[in-house]
Amino acid sequence: MAEMGIFEAMYSARALRRFKPDPVPDEILNKVLDAAIRAPSGSNEQSWLFVVVKDAAQRKKLGDIYRRGGDILMALYANRTKPAHMSQSTFDKLMASATYLIQHMADAPVLLVACLKAAAQSGPPPKLPPEVLEKMRGLARMSGSSIYPAVQNIILACRAFGLGTVLTTIHLFYEDEVKSVLGLPADVQTYALMPIGYPSDNFGPIKRRPVSEVVCLDRYGNPWKG
Ligand SMILES: Cc1cc2nc3c(=O)[nH]c(=O)nc-3n(C[C@H](O)[C@H](O)[C@H](O)COP(=O)(O)O)c2cc1C
Repeated sequence: MAEMGIFEAMYSARALRRFKPDPVPDEILNKVLDAAIRAPSGSNEQSWLFVVVKDAAQRKKLGDIYRRGGDILMALYANRTKPAHMSQSTFDKLMASATYLIQHMADAPVLLVACLKAAAQSGPPPKLPPEVLEKMRGLARMSGSSIYPAVQNIILACRAFGLGTVLTTIHLFYEDEVKSVLGLPADVQTYALMPIGYPSDNFGPIKRRPVSEVVCLDRYGNPWKG
């Protein structure tokens, strides 16, 4: 097992998008996946599915889809200015790195697709009052909450083994095509496409807005003085 403190991993597992062509041993990938499935999921359903794509032809197909998704993203971003907390040079580096991945997704030796299977309905659907149904519509934001903890475990486990990765979602613009390439059944949805490989760039440090800006005590507006 890789020896790395959890905090060292969290503070240095930045988004890495350029990879060496060196293959990732299955033994290591298996440990990363075994860390993924230690994550929590709603009702402990564990209805996740991970597709490890190593085949070059399959990677090329996914890379082509990702590139087209990237074209949409770049059109959406055309007039977007940098977030207030980011320097212009940091923003430019992020855009350059994301653009590189749009062109080179298939170059990563492994593409990992994190999916969730829709919960099976046992018995007839319950009859719920309209106000409850209305509230449930707002719960759409819960949809990824049973897979993204596993994705974060993957990010940290990769870091511990010296592997780079990044959570990407642009493929969702053409998710039907991704599902077709992977032969996924209708009730399985994809949530992240993660390139994995030995990185050409360095790990961390990770910079974020400070705790003092994003935490409040007891109620909104009351600063956390930690
Ligand atoms: C929900 C989510 C979706 C993301 N989608 C993409 C993506 O499609 N393509 C990409 O290159 N990076 C994507 N990222 C990576 C972010 O750009 C990255 O995590 C962020 O810029 C922080 O990078 P850092 O850890 O290197 O500071 C995504 C991250 C999250 C959390």
